[in-house]
Amino acid sequence: MNLDSNFLNINDLSNDEIKLMILLAHEFRKGKQINFKRPLYVANLFFENSTRTHTSFEMAQRKLRMQTFNINPQTSSMQKGESLSDTIKTLQAIGMNCLVIRHKTTGWYQELTKDPNINVSLVNAGDGSGQHPSQSLLDLVTIDDEFHKFTGLHIGIIGDLAHSRVARSDAEILQRLGANIYFAGPKEWYPKYFDKFGTYVTIDEIIEKLDVVMVLRVQLERLNQELVSSFTAPDYFKKYGLTTKRASRMKSNAIIMHPAPVNRDVEIASKLVESSKSRIFQQMHNGVYARMAILTTVLDKYLGDNNDENFN
Ligand code: CP
Repeated sequence: MNLDSNFLNINDLSNDEIKLMILLAHEFRKGKQINFKRPLYVANLFFENSTRTHTSFEMAQRKLRMQTFNINPQTSSMQKGESLSDTIKTLQAIGMNCLVIRHKTTGWYQELTKDPNINVSLVNAGDGSGQHPSQSLLDLVTIDDEFHKFTGLHIGIIGDLAHSRVARSDAEILQRLGANIYFAGPKEWYPKYFDKFGTYVTIDEIIEKLDVVMVLRVQLERLNQELVSSFTAPDYFKKYGLTTKRASRMKSNAIIMHPAPVNRDVEIASKLVESSKSRIFQQMHNGVYARMAILTTVLDKYLGDNNDENFN
């Protein structure tokens, strides 16, 4: 493969490049082994909290036999005022080949990719309310597992659309791959931006038609104080949540997805999280293999000679 050496926004990739990455993730899950010409050093910098993304990137690095460094922003020299740009250049100078970064600033990478002095591979592990490209890849792998296609699927993205980088990443790529996208949730949390990618509906009018019910977390930490004080979980659950009653109206082969962490009984009934329709923990499992595919792709110039032809 010949992708750019960064992975920042899944929507920058062509459909063919994305399909190859999905295939590669499936192959890693089946046990594919690859080797690199030299040791590779990867640092994880998480400026926002994470369990799944951070741990599965680290698991992916270990499965690929990369040398992993976890940089804690709280104990780094950024606390003395060092910029993100200088931190990246420092880690590059020390010998890192790739940096996996989650940051609260939407588009944190945009200026950095124009800097000719930065040549380490950058991987976006989530930028503010912008993009979450590794989540999108694992979501694509999970949907592909189930339906072996994207064209013609009916996919509902339901919940806190105002703050969801998962919704932004997923809606665009799923529409481009041929799925029909529907959005539901509080109208006041629905940015018109999403009109380009699908149709705003209510959960009750669409639930029977959907193949994938993708529920989003209510991100109270990103709501302003006025909205937090007027928010009540029972009201939200009743009006917008995936209740067991609503789930009982889903098609027999439809699945439930959620990027997690889950607010049980806020956006989804607790018992649905482990139900037969749920693929929530499978998404997390697939995240390891999707991230192996991402790291392999951005560092493919270091692949050894005796890997299969897809990599050479
Ligand atoms: N889905 C997701 O990004 O989870 P974490 O915040 O735990 O990484």
